[in-house]
Amino acid sequence: SGEAIADLVASRVLDVPDFPKAGIVFKDLMPVFADGPTFRSAMDAIVEHHGRGSFDVVAGIEARGFVIAAAVAYAAGVGVVPVRKAGKLPRKVLSATYALEYGEATLELHADAFTADQRVLVVDDVLATGGTAAATLGLIEQAGGTVTGFSVLLELEFLGARAKLAPREVHALLAVA
Ligand code: PRP
Repeated sequence: SGEAIADLVASRVLDVPDFPKAGIVFKDLMPVFADGPTFRSAMDAIVEHHGRGSFDVVAGIEARGFVIAAAVAYAAGVGVVPVRKAGKLPRKVLSATYALEYGEATLELHADAFTADQRVLVVDDVLATGGTAAATLGLIEQAGGTVTGFSVLLELEFLGARAKLAPREVHALLAVA
């Protein structure tokens, strides 16, 4: 159930104070990836929420989103497209610069990443301010993809990203107030 998955994820989140900067409590989800049964349950829950056959490709956001994207795509029998930090992709890119909870960042996507009307499921580990997600969803739409879902392992509800991303839906395995 959703509640069981939320408890499972909650049991594997580590709060790291003052990382990467003083005053920030970093949510480390590496333990979710490191434990086999937890990782499999979390990835299966994402596929089940959206439904096999409801997306044609999975877009993962660098870097932790890549781990999730690969596993979800493999489980669903589809491919992976990377949304990368600036300067990493070799061909023509679309770029978006946005504010982070700490600092600023630029994300890039290959301009030809999607075929017309491809249905794209977007995944990442944490939804914080929503800047990363908003930039990513915008890039995917600019590239001609149709975003059909967005899943994260953990949503920090108090930062209000859900409202920022509306009317797009956010699926979080665990939300913390
Ligand atoms: C983290 C996290 C999300 C983003 C969420 O990535 O993995 O992608 O921040 O923050 P936001 O909702 O406030 O935009 P980070 O930039 O630390 O990248 P990394 O996974 O490459 O370390």
